[in-house]
Amino acid sequence: MNRRPRRNRKSQVIREMVEETRLSTKDFIFPLFLIEGSRQRSEVASMPGIYRNSLDLMLKEIEECLHLGIKAFDIFPAYPDSKKDKFATESYNPDTFYLKAIREVKARFPEAVVMTDVAMDPYSSDGHDGLVENGKILNDETLEILGKMALAQAQAGADILGPSDMMDGRVGHIRQILDRNGFKDVSIMSYTAKYASAFYGPFRDALDSAPKMGDKKTYQMDPANYKEALIEAELDTLEGADFLMVKPALAYLDVIRLLKDHSNLPIAAYNVSGEYAMIKAAGEKGWIDPQRAMLESLLSIKRAGASVILSYFAKEYAEIVKK
Ligand code: PBG
Repeated sequence: MNRRPRRNRKSQVIREMVEETRLSTKDFIFPLFLIEGSRQRSEVASMPGIYRNSLDLMLKEIEECLHLGIKAFDIFPAYPDSKKDKFATESYNPDTFYLKAIREVKARFPEAVVMTDVAMDPYSSDGHDGLVENGKILNDETLEILGKMALAQAQAGADILGPSDMMDGRVGHIRQILDRNGFKDVSIMSYTAKYASAFYGPFRDALDSAPKMGDKKTYQMDPANYKEALIEAELDTLEGADFLMVKPALAYLDVIRLLKDHSNLPIAAYNVSGEYAMIKAAGEKGWIDPQRAMLESLLSIKRAGASVILSYFAKEYAEIVKK
């Protein structure tokens, strides 16, 4: 036999030499859940090891992550029902706790990259990403609100905005508002191909943000669709997105590869809450080796073509490679 592929697998050193994909702590954005107050901390029941923290404890968490080499954070606030309304007004109230927290994080750690989510659901009494009227999600009226939210987040110091709402035209609208207000350097990581997925369940538990009525299928994409992701990618690119994101990651590796092959923009993937929960739960039961399953999943996301990975595993990954 002339060709024996096993020769390139014969030792750890050779295997590492021919490794085609390498993960790094630099690939990650770590999502963090924020609550109001101080010295407040509660674990998300369906996400063992992931906490909602008040700002003081979040600052400690960020400091630890920076030492481990994780330098980008996506901050998601959890609001009580009493602060939610139809128009998600709290999302752009300059005195609200999450905007103050962004300012504080950037003041304490200017080198940290802060990303935010642009969508109405955490602040909406309807639990939808857009404005609801007579059971319908209004697209263009929602853009007005998203624009105010995006501007407030940029004013607070966010480096990257992540429109996760899936309204048509939102990237262009947000870009225009940012530019007109002097925020030309604030980036947009668009949730380009965001599917209507069961894998967001634990996240909605964390923020208590599940829709009060109906589902998100009139704005999030149908899991059956592939080519439609190219339509979204084309629009986001024309509208000025700096990154294109696919979400969830693991059930959509083909879509990550599709966008990677059709775009010159950096591709991000969101390894979502349900994907985290499944590995943790099976690990707790002793049914799989959770650490190896984590590493294999993260590697597969990178191999599929994502250069940026949003993952609740970010810190754990950094701890493992540091050892
Ligand atoms: C809000 C938003 C969601 C996620 C990120 N931003 C939930 C949703 O769209 O219902 C999900 C993240 C995760 O599951 O980890 N629009």
